Amino acid sequence: MANLKDKVALITGAAAGLGEGIATAYVKSGAKICMVDLSKSVEDTANKLREQYPGSEIITFVANVADKEQMKAAAAATVEKFGRLDIACCNAGVCRLAPFEEMTDEIRDFHIDVNIKGTWNTCQAAIPYMLKQGKGAIVIASSVTGDIVADGGEAAYAMSKAALVGLTRCLAVEYAPKNIRVNCSQLGYARTPMVEKMAVESNPEDPESAITAIARNVPMGRLAKPIEVGELFAFLGSDDASYITGSQVVIDGAATLPETNSIGTN
Ligand SMILES: NC(=O)c1ccc[n+]([C@@H]2O[C@H](COP(=O)([O-])OP(=O)(O)OC[C@H]3O[C@@H](n4cnc5c(N)ncnc54)[C@H](O)[C@@H]3O)[C@@H](O)[C@H]2O)c1
Repeated sequence: MANLKDKVALITGAAAGLGEGIATAYVKSGAKICMVDLSKSVEDTANKLREQYPGSEIITFVANVADKEQMKAAAAATVEKFGRLDIACCNAGVCRLAPFEEMTDEIRDFHIDVNIKGTWNTCQAAIPYMLKQGKGAIVIASSVTGDIVADGGEAAYAMSKAALVGLTRCLAVEYAPKNIRVNCSQLGYARTPMVEKMAVESNPEDPESAITAIARNVPMGRLAKPIEVGELFAFLGSDDASYITGSQVVIDGAATLPETNSIGTN
């Protein structure tokens, strides 16, 4: 378990899915956190965590990551409450599937606004505090999708997630001399509301079979649990990862490795 004692973290998309897993791992590791989400249900998720971890220090902030002023306000509220901001977890993201020739510019721009500009805004809101403190860490939710693999219908999503790898690399180089580390996760699949929705879009008659089929193609035989992704975010945000910056960390149960489904001894 990572040591995040005395660290203050801002986590976007924290009401559900991986964001909830990240928030859980951070609280478990001793961090004080600000859980940011578009949905007011973020307060219910925070209450669950407060019950599970008595003494935990958690605030919530309802904001749209696509709105820079709202993200600046979220970062300011975090610093006002906890006195500092050590780690930003840029997790909020969206995914809508559509055949490329039918994908509207609105769907494309939705991915650009939330996934790319949302991460951009979160970094711009957090970095000034990290510069003042002389230290910081940023963890960005990219994906294996876009940079390594893709399925049909994911053009806007894949494009936006690959862009985050470029952002990670540039910010890592730009801020290394200022003692701010920037890394991204490249997750395969975890069972979250997002993936359940993608399963419905892929197979409306039998979405469960779409999820079972994902697991069948993963050498570990299952999807990731949100807490497993949370533990990676906690490690990358902690001082244990002090020499890791500009990295893309694949967390996919080896899903992207097999060359075939038919050749080999297993
Ligand atoms: N689940 C997966 O298998 C998977 C795989 C690779 C990468 N990812 C990435 O991980 C991140 C989290 O995915 P998830 O599966 O937990 O998604 P999810 O849809 O299950 O949860 C996303 C959370 O983000 C919030 N959110 C959405 N738009 C927002 C906005 N504009 N501003 C603030 N909050 C917003 C939602 O309200 C929700 O609470 C995303 O960036 C996603 O692309 C997920």
